[in-house]
Amino acid sequence: MEGKRPRSVLIGFGNVGRELALLDDFWKLTRPVGVISSRGTVRIESEDDAARIREAAKGGMKLSELPSFRKGEGLEDFSGSISEGDVAFIALPPSYSTGEPNVSLVLDLLERGVAVITADKTPLALAFKKVMEASSEHRAFIGYRATVAAGTPFVDLARGLVGRSVTRLRSVLNATTNFLLSQVESGLSWRESIEIAGKMKLLEPDPSIDTEGIDAAAKLTIISNTLGFEIGLGDVRRRPLLEVSEEEVRRAAENGKRYKYVAELILPEKSASVFPMKLDAQDPLSSVHGNYNGIVVELEEGERIFLSGPAGPAWRTAKVMITDLLEYLRFYRPSH
Ligand SMILES: NC(=O)c1ccc[n+]([C@@H]2O[C@H](COP(=O)([O-])OP(=O)(O)OC[C@H]3O[C@@H](n4cnc5c(N)ncnc54)[C@H](OP(=O)(O)O)[C@@H]3O)[C@@H](O)[C@H]2O)c1
Repeated sequence: MEGKRPRSVLIGFGNVGRELALLDDFWKLTRPVGVISSRGTVRIESEDDAARIREAAKGGMKLSELPSFRKGEGLEDFSGSISEGDVAFIALPPSYSTGEPNVSLVLDLLERGVAVITADKTPLALAFKKVMEASSEHRAFIGYRATVAAGTPFVDLARGLVGRSVTRLRSVLNATTNFLLSQVESGLSWRESIEIAGKMKLLEPDPSIDTEGIDAAAKLTIISNTLGFEIGLGDVRRRPLLEVSEEEVRRAAENGKRYKYVAELILPEKSASVFPMKLDAQDPLSSVHGNYNGIVVELEEGERIFLSGPAGPAWRTAKVMITDLLEYLRFYRPSH
């Protein structure tokens, strides 16, 4: 980690972006030059500017509430100050319908040689190959550990299994659906559970991203491509969680079983799905509750790896982005 610290820009100042701005490592390991939200930017040109960003993050403020907010500005206004070897942290909301502006933004940064560290799944879920090609062609780092199970290194597990004979992978990748299922098990209706999850800010702004398996399918796509099995988000077959009746969820629990929203990959056929499934108590995934994610990988000769651990929330996601930054600084950053 020798040499001058890279400059950095933070794109997205919501739950995750604000938590990142509260971490000392963000300021110590990089030289942040600006923060960008949907409607404008704030430049960081002095210690005072940095202090104001931290204060805004602490107070849960929107970027646009800062007096130094420059309405209408965007990433293009930093083209003079962010270049090859610098870092862009991406904490944008997903955009699965068109992929934009998320995919183009990442490709543009990588093509300029800027290292990208993203919590947003969109570019990897919709354009994994393109992103990796741009990263390799322009020798620009892409860190995406925070996109799947944020707090538990599922991406590292998948990387470590490239070249092994993975035959099957089963996983619980969306913790919000664990919450909904446990509420229904305890007697609530789907509607009531969704209302509570909404109040607790556990749901995506569009709840169907959770309850129709889009979020889990995006994560499964990232894991599969990381393992070296190319699939697209559209290849993942999905069935809505809510197709299982409340009575059926409760009956299963009474009989010692558990419904989970299981994201599964069967290899080498590359069959991918996200289906609600009734699991036996002995199944390791049946014990993945609350804010936890879990993954079972079946290998050659039937051996199994089981990894389970916490997903978000935003503060942990931000810390995980710092692990990507450290990896970049230690192993990849062009020498200065
Ligand atoms: N929250 C978690 O625990 C967690 C865990 C893992 C991964 N993630 C992922 O991390 C990402 C960020 O999540 P979040 O909870 O921080 O989202 P969020 O609270 O909705 O914040 C999103 C931020 O992005 C900004 N933004 C939206 N469109 C933009 C654009 N076109 N250009 C620049 N900025 C734009 C928004 O600006 P305004 O302020 O102007 O609206 C806001 O500041 C998501 O992709 C999420 O899936 C989140």
